[in-house]
Amino acid sequence: MLSMLEPFASFGPDCHLYHCDHWRLLEALPDRSVDWLITDQPYSSGGLMRSDRAADPRLKYHHKTSRQDHETFSGDNRDGRSYLRWVEGWLERSLRLLKPGGGVVLFTDWRQLSATADALQCAGLVWRGLVPWDKTESCRPEQGAFASQCEYLVWGTVGKRRPDYLPCLKGLFRHRVDHRDKHHLTGKPTPLMLEVVEICPPGGTVLDLFSGSFTTAEACLRTGRRFVGCERSEHYCQVGAERLDRVLAELGADRSALAELRSFGGWSAPCV
Ligand SMILES: C[S@@+](CC[C@H](N)C(=O)[O-])C[C@H]1O[C@@H](n2cnc3c(N)ncnc32)[C@H](O)[C@@H]1O
Repeated sequence: MLSMLEPFASFGPDCHLYHCDHWRLLEALPDRSVDWLITDQPYSSGGLMRSDRAADPRLKYHHKTSRQDHETFSGDNRDGRSYLRWVEGWLERSLRLLKPGGGVVLFTDWRQLSATADALQCAGLVWRGLVPWDKTESCRPEQGAFASQCEYLVWGTVGKRRPDYLPCLKGLFRHRVDHRDKHHLTGKPTPLMLEVVEICPPGGTVLDLFSGSFTTAEACLRTGRRFVGCERSEHYCQVGAERLDRVLAELGADRSALAELRSFGGWSAPCV
């Protein structure tokens, strides 16, 4: 727990959800307390024209055939240059928190891909690559056009990669969006996040600055990574807390017993 911030909810000693703006959490976390920043920031995308991009996310991202009606969210209406400066700003601020050899994974769509990769490099990280997330043929069809079937993970490290964590991870993820597993207007599939968090060694700490419905937190809980994350919308903090309660019930654990579920290997990163 952080002395300056009260968590909205905690799940054991190593999983904390904060209801706050990302700048506040960035300020409150101690130096070198995070192994990987894995986040799905608002893309400020969803249209060719400035007026399209400034529209309410519910109009931009709600699939007309979807049976679900998720609450909207804020912070998704920056234009191209301010988006780049904004991402660069919080990435630069995150450097203080990241351990050497740790890094950053950022989601993006094709429109914001170049801005996102530029921001990562401008902030001083070493750009390591691009991993497509193939949403499968179940994605939104487009007549007379190639389907926008993929989103992307741009990733980079603080200097050299750690030499002592050596699993071989996939360079392409293929997961459909399943409405039964979607808790946010732009929620990511849990099976996708279970694979993404593998970049962080077991027992390491993952930070998610734009947590939405806390899919990254669920992946960390299920795989023995520590988690700290924030979300500005109280509604989605509540959605996330209820979701993680269900995960614990499914795992047969209560919040205090959670630590015993883990079998951490080597790289310990107590942070909050
Ligand atoms: C793309 S969504 C994340 C969805 C998430 N990956 C999931 O699976 O549910 C981005 C989230 O960032 C939140 N957000 C926007 N600006 C923020 C800020 N300045 N600080 C914290 N959260 C913010 C929004 O409310 C939104 O829920």
